[in-house]
Amino acid sequence: MERVTDPVDIRARREPAAPIPEVVAKRRAERQRPKAVFDLRDVQVSYGVKPAVRGVSFDMGRNEITALIGPSGCGKSTLIRCLNRMNDLIPAARVEGKVLYHDQDLYAPAVDAVEVRKRIGMVFQKPNPFPKSIYDNIAFGPRVLGMKGGMDEIVERALTHAALWDEVKDRLKANAFGLSGGQQQRLCIARCLAVEPDVILMDEPCSALDPISTGKIEDLMIELKREYSIVIVTHNMQQAARVSDRTAFFTVAPQGDPDGASGNDPTHRSGVLVEVDETEKIFTNPSDARTEAYVTGKVG
Ligand SMILES: Nc1ncnc2c1ncn2[C@@H]1O[C@H](COP(=O)(O)OP(=O)(O)OP(=O)(O)O)[C@@H](O)[C@H]1O
Ligand SMILES: [Mg+2]
Repeated sequence: MERVTDPVDIRARREPAAPIPEVVAKRRAERQRPKAVFDLRDVQVSYGVKPAVRGVSFDMGRNEITALIGPSGCGKSTLIRCLNRMNDLIPAARVEGKVLYHDQDLYAPAVDAVEVRKRIGMVFQKPNPFPKSIYDNIAFGPRVLGMKGGMDEIVERALTHAALWDEVKDRLKANAFGLSGGQQQRLCIARCLAVEPDVILMDEPCSALDPISTGKIEDLMIELKREYSIVIVTHNMQQAARVSDRTAFFTVAPQGDPDGASGNDPTHRSGVLVEVDETEKIFTNPSDARTEAYVTGKVG
C-alpha cells in the first residue's frame, strides 16, 4: 500500500531545518559561554509601585567582566544592587522575577543576605573608606567574620592584590582619608577582596578618578577576573570596550512596551534591557539601532 503521508516529512515541512553553518555557529557560541554566575529571569525592581527596571533576562558568566551601560536613570544601579541584595536596605524597593546565583535563588527565604554580601562584594562610585587606619579598613571585614589566619598577612595580601601595597606599606597605621581618591578606591577594592568574595560588583568605580588611577583600576580588573567574576556599571564607553567581555545595554522605555521600541510616554517610564552580547559586537555591530546610537554617542 502506498503511504501518502509520512509523519517525518510533515515535521520536516513544518519546521525547516536551520542551515548547517548557523547550527554550527550556535553550537560553538553555546560551548564557549562559561557557566553563569548570575542568571536573571524576568527581573523587575520597583520603588513603591513604580518599576524602575523591568523584564530583564540574561546571564553573566563566571570569570568574566560584564558591563552594564545605558543612559542615566535606566536602572543600572538598581539592577546591580539586586545582585547582592543591597536593595533589601531600601525599604520601598521590591524585586520580582528570579535572580539565580550559581543556580540558587538569591531571594529564597533560606538565603542569608549578610552571607550574600560577603560572597558578593561591592565597590561604589565614590570611594568610601571608613574613618580608620588603612590597616583597620582592610582588617574590619575579616575581623567581623572571624576569619582565620594572621591579620597582617590578610591585610598585605588584599592590598597587594589591589595593587596598592607598595604605595602604603610604610603607612598602614595612617588614616585612610589621607590617601588620594584613586588610592582610596583601590583601598575599597582591597577591603572588598579581604573577605575573599566570589563576585565584585562595581558601580561607576572610576567616575571620580583621573585617567592614571582609572587605568590602574582597569588593569586591576583584568587581573582580578582570573579569580573573580566582575560586574561593572560605567558611563565610560572606552572603559566598557577596554575591560569587559560582555556588555548589556539598557535604555528607558515607556511602560507597557515590552521591548521599548515604540514612542515615549514620559509619565510611565522604566529601564529595559535592549541587548546583551560580546562587547566587541556591541561596539562594532550591535543588533539594535538604539544601541548603535548610544555607543556611537548620537544619544544619551
Ligand atoms: N532609592 C530610590 N527610591 C526611589 N526611586 C529610586 C531610588 N533609586 C533609584 N530610583 C529611581 O529608579 C530609576 C533608576 O535609577 P538608577 O539609579 O538605578 O539609574 P542609573 O541607570 O543607575 O542612573 P545613573 O546612570 O544616573 O546612575 C530612576 O528613575 C530613579 O529615580
Ligand atoms: Mg547609577
